[in-house]
Amino acid sequence: MKIGIIGAGNVGSALAEHFGKLQHTVLIANSRGPETLSKAAEETGATAVAISEVAKGVDLLIITIPMKAVPSLPKDLLRGLPAESPILDTGNYYPLRDGLIDGIGAGMTESEWTSSVLGRPVIKALNNIMSDSLIHGGSPKDSKSRIALPVSGDDTKAKLFVIALLDDMGFDGLDAGPLSESWRYQPGTPAYCPDPTLKELPSLLERADRNKAAGNRDQAAKILAKLPPDFPAQELVRASRFLVGLDVLKPRTWFAMVRLGFAMLRNPNGRSARQ
Ligand SMILES: NC(=O)c1ccc[n+]([C@@H]2O[C@H](COP(=O)([O-])OP(=O)(O)OC[C@H]3O[C@@H](n4cnc5c(N)ncnc54)[C@H](OP(=O)(O)O)[C@@H]3O)[C@@H](O)[C@H]2O)c1
Repeated sequence: MKIGIIGAGNVGSALAEHFGKLQHTVLIANSRGPETLSKAAEETGATAVAISEVAKGVDLLIITIPMKAVPSLPKDLLRGLPAESPILDTGNYYPLRDGLIDGIGAGMTESEWTSSVLGRPVIKALNNIMSDSLIHGGSPKDSKSRIALPVSGDDTKAKLFVIALLDDMGFDGLDAGPLSESWRYQPGTPAYCPDPTLKELPSLLERADRNKAAGNRDQAAKILAKLPPDFPAQELVRASRFLVGLDVLKPRTWFAMVRLGFAMLRNPNGRSARQ
């Protein structure tokens, strides 16, 4: 396949690496031009292109940039994107980073808003897994701890396409319904980043409370901001699992919670980029 990726940060680079290993052709772009992406291209085997070229003729377009940047994407970005090629949105809304977005404040899910800005349907996936787990967390189909990821959207064929791609990458995909239901795994919900298995994921989605999600998200953002940037991502996953009632009897999980507490106390002004 030919896959275009807009955004070459934590997630874009991790995806480019996966797709390269799967022998797909990967085009990658940012806002500053291909000359600024030579390192990412070299490390992942992707071809750095101008943003005006990244959607042309690709089988899948992935948008993985901060949400505040979505409105500044070129207006003719999607002109060369075949009508049948899905757009996959990994975005998360963090008001502290993205500013206030009225459409989301008025009740749209984050990806419904992105879709409305782009003027085309999108599939939402890969927003609720940290880039570290994305890089290192893939596993064979029969693995008991295989991570499951929700996939939502209004086009069943496009969802199946994305679910098959996730499977190739080492993850189970779960059809989580239409895009209007994708709030169930936005930031601040139980399914946000605990790396659940296919058995665990449905009840996390079911337990999501839309009225509490924004408050939980902002609280979590404050905690993350106190952590040193090198705080191990896997300890954050363990802590997330504990907080949603998974692995509560595992000593390793308790250790992660203690470590999280000490890191916050030791580094009250630390800054993290994990969003
Ligand atoms: N970090 C995670 O673990 C994680 C996990 C799941 C989902 N997410 C979400 O996925 C999205 C990307 O996250 P990330 O951590 O990969 O972000 P990141 O590391 O900050 O990278 C963002 C990328 O987007 C590019 N970009 C910014 N504005 C752009 C524009 N107008 N046009 C084209 N490219 C632009 C940036 O390059 P230039 O600034 O040079 O253009 C950069 O390559 C965010 O919405 C985030 O919340 C993050």
